[in-house]
Amino acid sequence: MPLFRMDDLMIQARKHGAALGAFECWDSLNVRGIAMAAKRCNSAVIFQATPLEYNLMGGADALADIVNFYVNKYDIAAALHLDHGSTLKHVDECLKSGFTSVMLDASVYNFEKNAELSAQAAAMAAGYNASCEAELGHVGGGGDGGANSESVLTVPEEAAEFVRRTKVDCLAVAIGTVHGDYAGKPELRLDRLEKIAASVDVPLVLHGGSGTPKDLLQKAIKLGIAKINICTDINKAFLAAIEGAKGRLAHSVPGTYYIPAVDAVADKTEEMIKLFRCEI
Ligand code: 13P
Repeated sequence: MPLFRMDDLMIQARKHGAALGAFECWDSLNVRGIAMAAKRCNSAVIFQATPLEYNLMGGADALADIVNFYVNKYDIAAALHLDHGSTLKHVDECLKSGFTSVMLDASVYNFEKNAELSAQAAAMAAGYNASCEAELGHVGGGGDGGANSESVLTVPEEAAEFVRRTKVDCLAVAIGTVHGDYAGKPELRLDRLEKIAASVDVPLVLHGGSGTPKDLLQKAIKLGIAKINICTDINKAFLAAIEGAKGRLAHSVPGTYYIPAVDAVADKTEEMIKLFRCEI
């Protein structure tokens, strides 16, 4: 099955009161685990990678080949997305490799520069009939602290103007989540999310899904989040399974050694897909 535009899958998910999981890919083992989970759940899924991750696999073209292989093998509906591209070169190489969505993350810049760069990325994506995500406000790392400070949260009044100017197809918002582990108790600004959702007509994205309480994620989905990014939780599952295999399985037989890691990614991904469909 050919890959879908990411925004089309997100719009479909919202019609069913759900969000799609967007799972980080770093090798063929974890891509396979994600695909297995999507098949088990009969669900669409988003595969995504940062330049660091797809370069680990040999390049954007290598990831695209791996993802297309498993999408066809398991016969699943999927999109392939560039996560946190930092240059237009990243956007270009991913579009040329067949990604169906890209993100140029210019959220560290001021509104004007973010809008200018995001508009360029959106125009490039449109040329390939791919979708484009941008981030307004800034979702940092858990260690940074201050996920709820005014300086990083998305300003609802700016969101509509940003989408109109850039023509992006979906918008990532900063409402209190963090990438990686939270330093303290996670608190989401759902009031802000509600205002943003009321002011824009594109689907919304939540970065930093790992470690966020389930009830908060499901409330965010009800208020308009259509895609939730997950990296840390599946990476932890993958690494814990390998750790657990030590002493139990022989290092000299990698074929068996990594099977628990693939299964662990599949199990964690399945849990998330069901959570985002509001089934648990
Ligand atoms: P987590 O590692 O917190 O799941 O965040 C992933 C993410 O947002 C990738 O863009």
